[in-house]
Amino acid sequence: MAPLAFFLLFPLLGLSVAEISSKIGINYGQLGNNLPSPNRSVELIKSLNIGRVKLYDANPEILRLLSGTNISVSIMVPNNEITGIASNQSKADEWVKNNVLPYYPKTMIRYLLVGNEILSYFSDQDRRLWHDLVPAMTKSSPLSKPKTSQT
Ligand SMILES: *[C@@H]1O[C@H](CO)[C@@H](O)[C@H](O)[C@H]1NC(C)=O
Ligand SMILES: *[C@@H]1O[C@H](CO)[C@@H](O)[C@H](O)[C@H]1NC(C)=O
Ligand SMILES: *[C@@H]1O[C@H](CO)[C@@H](O)[C@H](O)[C@H]1NC(C)=O
Repeated sequence: MAPLAFFLLFPLLGLSVAEISSKIGINYGQLGNNLPSPNRSVELIKSLNIGRVKLYDANPEILRLLSGTNISVSIMVPNNEITGIASNQSKADEWVKNNVLPYYPKTMIRYLLVGNEILSYFSDQDRRLWHDLVPAMTKSSPLSKPKTSQT
């Protein structure tokens, strides 16, 4: 109740809060119990006038719900696909074709993130993954491909 009264009393302040929040980004994870549906979450994100959303995957339903909005979206290549993508350009192209192109440009996908907290794990297998990180980034980047295609 209090915030609403605040906005009614200070419409100008409310406006500037809206302007600031359009530059705010949120991380939208889906691990947890009793999460609101993607639909409700996206409605909430829109109503808060949030400008950027980072997803921890490339959830088709969420990407579809974000289409036609002014929200910049980051999506993530999951950790378990990094090694395959790092060593195989066709696989990288396939990932982009399946996870980015169906939604782009109606959904404003702006960043493709590769992996989550890769550098926080230290087993031998995890260390191998560190070396795959940059190759996976260059291969999955449609824009940088022409410049980085040497072997
Ligand atoms: C999503 O939410 C909107 C607004 O709350 C509602 O009109 C619409 O029916 C919902 N769609 C689905 C698929 O639940
Ligand atoms: C989207 O953002 C651009 C620039 O930030 C703005 O000019 C445009 O009016 C916005 N469109 C909508 C539908 O909010
Ligand atoms: C690279 O990925 C493509 C598409 O998934 C697959 O058909 C091909 O066999 C892979 N090549 C190698 C060398 O693994």
